[in-house]
Amino acid sequence: MAGAKQHAHWSSRWAFIMAAVGSAVGLGNIWKFPYEANAGGGGAFVLVYLAFVFLIGTPLLVAELSLGRRGQLSPIRSMEKIAKEEGRTNWWSLVGWSGVIGSFIVISFYSVVGGWTLSYVVEAFSGGMTGITKEGAEAHFNSLVTNPVTPLVWHAAFMAITVGIVLRGVEGGLEKAVTILMPALFVLLVGLVIYSGVTGEFTAAVNFLFAPDWSKMNADVALNALGQSFFSLSLALGSIMVYGSYLTKDVNIGKAAITIAGADSAVAILAGLAIFPIVFAFDLSVGKEEGLVFMTLPIAFGQMTGGAVIGTFFFGLLTVAAITSSISLLEPSVSYLEETDKLSRKKAAFIIGIAAFLLGSLSSLGFGVLSDVTIFGKSIIGFKSYITNNLMMPLAGMFMALFIGWFISRKSIMDELAMNESWFRIWYFMIKYICPFAILVVFYNIVFGF
Ligand code: TRP
Repeated sequence: MAGAKQHAHWSSRWAFIMAAVGSAVGLGNIWKFPYEANAGGGGAFVLVYLAFVFLIGTPLLVAELSLGRRGQLSPIRSMEKIAKEEGRTNWWSLVGWSGVIGSFIVISFYSVVGGWTLSYVVEAFSGGMTGITKEGAEAHFNSLVTNPVTPLVWHAAFMAITVGIVLRGVEGGLEKAVTILMPALFVLLVGLVIYSGVTGEFTAAVNFLFAPDWSKMNADVALNALGQSFFSLSLALGSIMVYGSYLTKDVNIGKAAITIAGADSAVAILAGLAIFPIVFAFDLSVGKEEGLVFMTLPIAFGQMTGGAVIGTFFFGLLTVAAITSSISLLEPSVSYLEETDKLSRKKAAFIIGIAAFLLGSLSSLGFGVLSDVTIFGKSIIGFKSYITNNLMMPLAGMFMALFIGWFISRKSIMDELAMNESWFRIWYFMIKYICPFAILVVFYNIVFGF
């Protein structure tokens, strides 16, 4: 690494793309997307979601990456620095603060679910899924998450792995791991879709996912779809900005953003196509929320030949996908502590990891001993997910777009992006007018409900 305050850089364009895809593809695609789609009534949710990914999310990805690359510092300091250079108020650093705090909240519950995933690797490997029935799968999941101790142990293990990688710096093992494991996850998912398609109710699943029933669409569902599109793309909480700060000038940010969004959406759709044929074939009661993936896929693994091996691989790769996302969730706060308090990377990673574990334990216990605790009518995990997904991300995203569109000079952003002129025009128009306006409309609907 160069000077004391200089960040590391990705070793190649490909390494960056894989790390960014690794951040985007995670539990959000395979665990959260199916249950959000389910709760949102299927096709209408999916279409609105995809529209948000490509019309709002992708332009914002470009925006966030370019802010990071220009700042070359942690999200808070990058925003501060750019605002200063452009002669704007220091208040813009709040966008960075919201990112650092928001990503910390997300990692605190994300790692709980990461822990469940890890425990399912062992469960599949030990043959625990063989011949499992619908009732058995439900009972297993419920007994895991309501237990006061077991999920905390898995949660700690998951967090320890994440911290272990983060404290070594991003370039070491991570770059190598993602370039092999991400493609492997993709291949396995395609295989699962084929299996589900042959053995399950494929047509019903396709209809459910793609035939929109607009009567199910309302302001809340639209906001969930917006939040989910941001969550899945890792947007607006600083992860993408930090990754942008490790970027060198020769990378084409526009192309990178399209690749990331395309890969991320493909994985979410494949996950839906792998899961819903089984949901319909086994008549798994809908609305199972957080348990959906954990109660459906074991049934499929339990019935197929070689299911123990395939199941182990699947949950193993899902864990890896979750880890590559968690790394990007720890990175904003770790980079901030490292830079500001002059802590070593190791110390910073430890402190953040332990703090996030403690905060996350509350979410974990929220499924069992603390299940009576509700905040504004939501479970602990539901509340954390709501404020980050549905409030912090859209707001930070909107302010990021406003900042670039209205408060920094067109020329400086054009120089930063070095895009082809007509693409730049389209992108700039989206960022200046469409993104902030669209987010505002979704919000207005929620607050004033017209
Ligand atoms: N996108 C990841 C997923 O789908 C989760 C994630 C990583 C994230 N970094 C983020 C979500 C930053 C929001 C913000 O699993």
